[in-house]
Amino acid sequence: MSDRRFLITAGLPYSNNRLHVGHIAGAYLPADIYVRYLRACGDDVRFICGSDDNGVAALKSAREMGISVEELTAKYNASQQESFAGLGIEFDIYGGTHQPEFVKTHERLSQAFFKKIHDKGYFTKRTTRQLYDTEAEQFLPDRFVKGTCPTCKSTSAHGDQCEDCGRAMDQVDLIDPVSTMTGSTPELRETTHWFLRLDQLQEPLANWLRSKKRSSECGASWRDIVINQSLGRIEAEGLPERAMTRDMSWGIPVPLDDPDAKGKVLYVWFDAPIGYVSFTEELCQRNGEGEGGYKDWWMNPDCKIVNFIGEDNIVFHAITFPAMMLATHDSENTQGDRGEFQLPHNVVANAFVNFKMPGKDEEKMSKSRGTAVWIEDYLESYDPDPLRYYLTAIAPEQQRSAFEFDDFLTRNNGELLAALGNLINRTMTFAHKYFDGKIPQAGNREQIDLDQLQACKDIAQRTANALEECRFKTAQDEMMSLARAGNVYFDTTKPFKTRKTDMNECGTAINVCLQTARTLTTIMAPFLPSSATKCLRMLQLDEKAFMWNTACEPLPDGHELGEAEYLVKKLDVLQE
Ligand code: 2FM
Ligand code: ZN
Repeated sequence: MSDRRFLITAGLPYSNNRLHVGHIAGAYLPADIYVRYLRACGDDVRFICGSDDNGVAALKSAREMGISVEELTAKYNASQQESFAGLGIEFDIYGGTHQPEFVKTHERLSQAFFKKIHDKGYFTKRTTRQLYDTEAEQFLPDRFVKGTCPTCKSTSAHGDQCEDCGRAMDQVDLIDPVSTMTGSTPELRETTHWFLRLDQLQEPLANWLRSKKRSSECGASWRDIVINQSLGRIEAEGLPERAMTRDMSWGIPVPLDDPDAKGKVLYVWFDAPIGYVSFTEELCQRNGEGEGGYKDWWMNPDCKIVNFIGEDNIVFHAITFPAMMLATHDSENTQGDRGEFQLPHNVVANAFVNFKMPGKDEEKMSKSRGTAVWIEDYLESYDPDPLRYYLTAIAPEQQRSAFEFDDFLTRNNGELLAALGNLINRTMTFAHKYFDGKIPQAGNREQIDLDQLQACKDIAQRTANALEECRFKTAQDEMMSLARAGNVYFDTTKPFKTRKTDMNECGTAINVCLQTARTLTTIMAPFLPSSATKCLRMLQLDEKAFMWNTACEPLPDGHELGEAEYLVKKLDVLQE
């Protein structure tokens, strides 16, 4: 057991829709790979997620579908859990900010958070003008307003954020606003809200972000996309105050004894990240750790917090939520550079995955245009690992990438099957056919054999190095390079020939191939957990073999093997 502790979160998906491959590639798969790797290192890890139920997105969908918002969010929370389970993405807890078993704790912690910031004087109560829909007779929540972004001039900007340039928006800044509730042009009316004094928090925030830009600590240097959208924005524009309350009935009520707070709820982006905290608390309670167990993760600097998110969530995770956490600082800390809650060790964001049809340009994944690949649909026809492999192979770690169905099939057949599946299958088949299903004698190892065993060690180490730094695509490439090296070794040592001339030499080669399969079992597990479990069965090993420090432990001569199974299936285009 190592002494490292990690709390890993993955962005809470809105519970108004099913999950598609873009969501998985953006946040959940890299988070799951990281968690599996950390656990394999013996680290103490909690992996937290759940649905983002509050806010107007759910309200809008429920209205469109003619069901209650409670029904809607319960339905999609369940559908999300099924999709995650089907892909082998295993959280320690999957909560929901308004799900019946979670809402009480979530409300208590969110309200306490709000009151703490309020009592520290980091809110300004202000009456401002907001967009009001006279047909619907209500103030328009941000997501119900569309218009033109004043920064990039995109016409698909919403009242909370521009989808194209990522700018966090104030709805009144939108050019030519339109209510998406009724299609009418809204008018400005007065309403009172509580604004977070981001301007007062921006200095400690900027200093903290600068330290993340040049951190020399392993795994602590943030990706450029995150630094640019957070520190870059602060340095370029500074931070304005942001309203943290909304005129709405669905959400967490504003916990103030003030007539102006009536009929108002916390802004969904205020309460959603606190979901990470409240679900941690629920997990601790379920584990019998008593009330307040979350503090040992969220307030104990021994624990590293890492948030995995998609690029559209960067501003909220690298500016707003950290600012909220800093605002909880105690009065002795006059610099305001340390809150009661600790700031994340890393915020790992990916760019979007677009969708590409043959012969057409890439497009954004969209439900209405039919350019999304839904996980539920995928799982009806395919196993999880081919998609896990593909989404890591095209991981949008530096820039946007595209999901192309033909490319998915080609990579499965031409890489996963041709390299990894082939090595494991031919080695296993050979061992069963000519060595009685046992590990043959290591015999006299020559340089080529020793080199292959050294490659196992080197590649396991390089895979670990990349995983430590959250470079998942590189890490998977490293793992695959061992499979390729194994095939080259097999082809060069030619056990299929030596079995006719020198059974000892043949045994040495198959032994080394099986040692390679042994290493691969451990190092493929974070990426391809179902395949790794098959390898365990084939090599007759138990789950301890997933621990990283066992990756190069030799399988003893004579060790009995399990039955050979196909590791990777050839995939064909589905016939309609
Ligand atoms: O973009 C989204 O899907 C948001 N629901 C993510 C919230 S992440 C966290 F803050 F809860
Ligand atoms: Zn924009």
